[in-house]
Amino acid sequence: MALLELHGLSKQFGGLAAVDGLDLAIPPGEVRGLIGPNGAGKTTAFNMISGVYKPTKGRVIFDGKDITGLPAHEVARRQLSRTFQLTTLFREFTVLRNLLAAYHLFCKAGFWNSVLNTSRSKKEEDQFMENALETLRFLGIEDLKNEIAKNLPYGHQRVMTLGMALILRPKLLMLDEPVSGMNLQETKNMMDKIKETRDKKNVTIFLVEHNMKAVMDICDCITVLSFGKKIAEGTPQEIKTNPAVIEAYLGVEDHVA
Ligand SMILES: Nc1ncnc2c1ncn2[C@@H]1O[C@H](COP(=O)(O)OP(=O)(O)OP(=O)(O)O)[C@@H](O)[C@H]1O
Ligand SMILES: [Mg+2]
Repeated sequence: MALLELHGLSKQFGGLAAVDGLDLAIPPGEVRGLIGPNGAGKTTAFNMISGVYKPTKGRVIFDGKDITGLPAHEVARRQLSRTFQLTTLFREFTVLRNLLAAYHLFCKAGFWNSVLNTSRSKKEEDQFMENALETLRFLGIEDLKNEIAKNLPYGHQRVMTLGMALILRPKLLMLDEPVSGMNLQETKNMMDKIKETRDKKNVTIFLVEHNMKAVMDICDCITVLSFGKKIAEGTPQEIKTNPAVIEAYLGVEDHVA
């Protein structure tokens, strides 16, 4: 059974069909890429799956259950998480505190509880701490746990946002442009972490990325959107040589080659 299924998923913004009848099924353990030119509807699709937007039409089935239209924290609680944008992190908090805040903010009690550190038992506290430290160790940034987030280099800040998503112990992790703005070394490091997340933590990965080398290297299967519609799906090799994909990227086709 697929871990994530989309059936006719659609989002209309006024007269614009940003996502138009998207069907898709991701089996457990897969790294799936979602690519397409700017404005193709990739982020909108992610926003509907993760509960940020309600679909205009269609269904989202996750782990056998219909989660269509559930609010984001309910989706996160079902172990479907997405990485957070840098604007979501708490710049003045330490790395460790960011992970704990993410857990509370997106999965459990309200915002102020997470910030003010109230209404948690000692046992819960210990459990969060253990989980957070294990996550940081896994990502290779445990020694940065007491650093203030805003002082970290960009690449490490992004790895920390991966930690903020992983602390929710997802079955499916969605990443929207995980390596955008990164240099070569940071990109390689992030791609390695994503692969390890799949291989060692059994997390299924669904990622949007414009860096075609990274996408082709890491994905088992790629879905291509253009103007809100799926125009192709297949292995990286199939996608690279698909005429409809090359045409969709016309003018920027050197990204695909
Ligand atoms: N909240 C919104 N209100 C109105 N239009 C929107 C909204 N969000 C997205 N759109 C429009 O929907 C279309 C799809 O946008 P989306 O952000 O999903 O594209 P994308 O594939 O993620 O693009 P990019 O690669 O540039 O991130 C675009 O035309 C965009 O302008
Ligand atoms: Mg986008």
